[in-house]
Formats: sequence, C-alpha cells, structure tokens
Amino acid sequence: MSSASTASFPLPKNVLIVGAGGREHTLVKTVLASPACPRVIVAPGNAGIAAEVPVFPIAADDIAGLVALAQREKIDFVIVGPEVPLSLGLVDALAKVGIPAYGPKADGARLEASKVFTKQILLKYGIPTAACGIFTEIEPALAYLRSRGAPIVIKADGLAAGKGVIVAQTLAEAEAAAIDMLAGNKFGAAGSQILVEDCLTGEETSILVVTSGRDYVILPTSQDHKRIGDGDTGPNTGGMGTYSPADVVTPALLAQIENEIVRPSVNAIADEGIEFRGTLFIGIMLTPKGPSVLEYNTRFGDPETQVVLPRLDTDVLALLWAAALGKLAGLPVTTKPGHAICVVIAAKGYPDAYAKGDVIEFPATLPDNVQIIHAGTARNPAGQVVTAGGRVLGVTALAPTLRAAADSAYAVCEQIQCTSKVYRRDIGAKQLNRR
Ligand code: AMP
Ligand code: GLY
Repeated sequence: MSSASTASFPLPKNVLIVGAGGREHTLVKTVLASPACPRVIVAPGNAGIAAEVPVFPIAADDIAGLVALAQREKIDFVIVGPEVPLSLGLVDALAKVGIPAYGPKADGARLEASKVFTKQILLKYGIPTAACGIFTEIEPALAYLRSRGAPIVIKADGLAAGKGVIVAQTLAEAEAAAIDMLAGNKFGAAGSQILVEDCLTGEETSILVVTSGRDYVILPTSQDHKRIGDGDTGPNTGGMGTYSPADVVTPALLAQIENEIVRPSVNAIADEGIEFRGTLFIGIMLTPKGPSVLEYNTRFGDPETQVVLPRLDTDVLALLWAAALGKLAGLPVTTKPGHAICVVIAAKGYPDAYAKGDVIEFPATLPDNVQIIHAGTARNPAGQVVTAGGRVLGVTALAPTLRAAADSAYAVCEQIQCTSKVYRRDIGAKQLNRR
C-alpha cells in the first residue's frame, strides 16, 4: 500500500531525528524513503548519517540546544531515537514551543528510566513478570537473594546503556553485583536502587509497539542477541544482532502476548495518567509458563529497528506522525514478506573499555539486499571513517529466507576491514537450527 495516501492529514516536511546510532541511521533511511519526500536533518549523527543528510553537532542530551536547533531550522516534526533525551524531557520542551515529536514525554520515559517504576506497574496491573524484591540497602538485598538462591538476576534501577543487568549464575556473583551497584561503584546513581529478580528461562523476543495512548500497532517480531559472545555467553550488551520475523512467536503466541501483555500494558500506562505517544518496546521472555515481561523500553530498539523498519510496507513517517498526533486509530500497517537480519560489528573490548579511532575499510560494492548501517563511527582529520563507539556498524540484509539473509550479511561482515572488529557468528542460529 502507499500509506502517504492513507494518512488523511498532511505529513511533515522538515524532520529532525535525534541520536547517533544504528537505530537513527535506519530511521534516516526509512524517513527519506517516505513518499512525502521530507527534508531530514540529524543531531548529532555519525559518519554514515552525515553521508546522507545534514548533521548538527548537538549532543542528544542537550535539550536546550536541540529545541533551539529545531526552531532555527523550522522543523515541524522531531523523531527522538535514544532514551536519554526522552527521560530528560525533550518532548515536553518541544511541546512547549509547539513542535510535535515522536516519543513519550518524561513521565512516559520513566518506564525505561526506572525499572522499579515499571515493575510496580506490572505488578499492580497483573501483567506477567518475574517475582522480585526492591532494595536500597545492601544487607536486606543479600538476605533476599540468598533466600531465593542462584541463578538470580540483579538489575540497577536506572539507565545503564543496556549493561545494568547481571544474570548471576552463582550466589557469590549475585552478592558482588548487588554490593557493587548499591555501593555506587558501578552505575552511580542508577544503581542506588536495585531489583533482585527470579531468573527466567526461555527464548527472548522484542515486541515493538507504536502507540498513541490507547491505540497501538504491533510491529513485526524480532529477536535480539544480548550477550557479547556466541552461544549467548559473556556479559550483556546493548544488542549484538537481530532478525525478523522471530518465528518462535507463532500467531497463537502473538495473540497471547497481545492479550496478556500488550493491551494491558498500553491500558495500564494510560490508566496511570501517562499520555504515551511513541514506541513501547516490550522485552519478553518466552518461559515454559508463558510470556513474561523483562522490561519496557520507551523508544525503538537498537538493533531491532534495523530489521523491523525495513520490513514495513507502510510509510514509516506517516505512522510515526499519526502516533505523535494521536491519530493512529485505523491506520493500516502492512509488512513485506521475507526475512531480515542485522549483524552488529563491535569494537574489541565492548561492552567494557574499547579503542576508538581504528580505520574502517568498506567493500567497494554491496549486494542490493545488504545495507551497512553506521552506529559508532566518525571521520578522522584525514577524512577516513573510524570507530567511535562500542557498537560500530550493523550489517543488515533482507532475503526470502533467514538463511539467505544471514549468508548475505556475513559475507559483507568478512569484507569489512577493521583491526578491532568483533561480531557474533551465530545471529539467527536459534531459528535456523530449529528447521
Ligand atoms: P533488561 O534490560 O531488563 O531487558 O535485561 C537485559 C537482559 O538480561 C534481558 O534481555 C535478558 O537477557 C536478561 N534478563 C533480564 N531479566 C531477566 C530475568 N528475570 N531472567 C533471566 N534473564 C533476564
Ligand atoms: N536491543 C535492545 C535495546 O535496544 O535496548
């Protein structure tokens, strides 16, 4: 369908996208593809984004600077990528000067910025989630986790770039994590309150929901790979790769997830008095007892966005604009057939310390079905593209089968030259091995 024609209202012409990662590079490509042909600018962007649209060196947490940029550039729609500006109230500040934005205001962003706040909502509304204790003091936390036994999960309350969750296999590891967080060593204020949560088992899925209050659209399913190492080993990261659709979410299971989790979540948030216009990204564990919520995020996933948005037939600009205006009801959203994969190339050492400034060399040509999405990249004074973050690139491919998509993406991963590159070799393997 051509959804620009399905939106019964004019679309924005001047769009600012806030952020600097692979998610934002994908948003840029997707919005540029809109039949509305908007002008797109980005703050602060990365080397890949700068090759496509004008970028402005204003940090994603510089709320006043971003609002001033939007006013100066006569922006009529802002799409906010990352969680930090959302939680700092960027959308509230834009609303005050009359600029519509996609993304929740600070009250909605709390659903990601505080895991304790979310847990309290999940428990209050009877939405399935792991049993837990909430602690600000070390001794009661240790007593509780000893009473539950290992494996057990320790979570810092606040934002920690996807790294504030320790799935402890032993009590010693759990105790060390709890002490580390509560003593303020590891995550600062984000760890001054912790959750100690029962360890769930099963496959995970990321459910991205575009919502404008009580109306919502569930986007295609995907599965992230959170651990740094093959076979889901090593520490948690922001996500090392993903694919869509996640066939483990059968139509029956998706209906169950919608009935038990998505609709109750959207309604709970509205009942709490939060007007949420943006992405509610629900991390779900498919446990033997049924789907259970791991977390809410209040923005598009990274790298989930890299596989979900390219699979939509719908004009994404129209979709996000409709959500921002509260006009989502009845907007049709359709998906292309086929499979998408994204393999993240990270800098060696990530999610801990890693080097920056390594030169990246790209293949001279790419197959039509592959895109290299930039995340942590910049240009050095010589004009070369260099590494500038933990997650550096996302190699994405679309193909009729997941196998073909994986083969295409991995062939390009091998061709990318960068001394510090690391990537998982098993993105999509769970689904491929099920066949
Ligand atoms: P979160 O940021 O809460 O989604 O947690 C990050 C990752 O930690 C999740 O994607 C899971 O892989 C893992 N995790 C979180 N909570 C649990 C849990 N209760 N049981 C097992 N693994 C978990
Ligand atoms: N890939 C998970 C996230 O965006 O948090």
